[in-house]
Amino acid sequence: MEIDIRRPDDWHLHLRDGAAMAAVVPFTAARFARAIVMPNLKPPVTTTAQALAYRDRILAALPPGSAFSPLMTLYLTDRTDASEIEVASQSRWVKACKLYPAGATTNSDSGVTDIRRIDDVLARMSEAGLPLLVHGEVTGNVDVFDREHRFIDEVLAPTLQRFPKLRVVFEHITTARAVEFVKGARAGVGATITPQHLLHNRNAIFEGGIRPHYFCLPILKTESDREALLAAATSGDPRFFLGTDSAPHEQRTKENACGCAGMFSAHAGIELYAEAFESVGRLDKLEGFAADFGADFYQLPRNTDRIRLAKRDWSPPANYPYSKDGGALVPMRAGETVRWQMVT
Ligand code: NCD
Ligand code: ZN
Repeated sequence: MEIDIRRPDDWHLHLRDGAAMAAVVPFTAARFARAIVMPNLKPPVTTTAQALAYRDRILAALPPGSAFSPLMTLYLTDRTDASEIEVASQSRWVKACKLYPAGATTNSDSGVTDIRRIDDVLARMSEAGLPLLVHGEVTGNVDVFDREHRFIDEVLAPTLQRFPKLRVVFEHITTARAVEFVKGARAGVGATITPQHLLHNRNAIFEGGIRPHYFCLPILKTESDREALLAAATSGDPRFFLGTDSAPHEQRTKENACGCAGMFSAHAGIELYAEAFESVGRLDKLEGFAADFGADFYQLPRNTDRIRLAKRDWSPPANYPYSKDGGALVPMRAGETVRWQMVT
């Protein structure tokens, strides 16, 4: 069986920098026309000037002839100046700002300690129509499985009320509660969903032993949460769209007594979604989720060319080359089966 869909975009992607970025960007560029590139580098991308320089480095690392277009984001900190929002919204390539609650995830130490500290920035973003992308988890001494719920109640709902025009993407949602929240939210609220949260529940982290390659943040949740996410993604509701959250980490930093959070999925960044949609007989809804609704949310034109996917088993390798010193990258489903393949 083969299907063909409008070329998709990835609305949540980590590309890193330097040799690591050069190693991973071709996987995304082969599948997606555009991606929203996350700013959690070390140090973080906090200004438009830094974002544009980062974009140039990404373009320079693309395979010859690639038409892939990176779309950039700024990392909000307690010290972000509202005047930076003006610069960002007038630039051609900065499309959003990212809220990392300080300490919530990889490279979030410079994140926002209390959202009320950036009220002036949010007011400016709201006026400029620049979307706020949220890592939707509270921090501190809160059960790791409850952090998204608590974020909805304590941060997201009040923020949407205080800024009734602010456009917000609730990134990588992981729970049935988040699905319900987004469905009931006012206009201007969307959500991305990752392939791992559509395909796996938290048992995957503990299958026969601890599996560091299934550790990501927000952490995988229960089977009923997974079912709710899959129902939302495949429903044709335009509030839900594709964001892989592909987040590469070198093998030895994942297979470690204190392993990093993040799953690398860009090597099968559309194929894994095809597998999820097929599992519920909803391949007909893949194009909207992967190629239409995100572009519409960001008020960008939909892509015009198409890609083809074949129902064919293949096995991602045990690892891909990643860092300059020979470090490797273990992809999602390494040595296992992915059920769909891109036809090139
Ligand atoms: C991401 C990363 O590694 O940058 N990790 C992850 O588990 N998803 C950060 C993030 O999106 O939380
Ligand atoms: Zn992410």
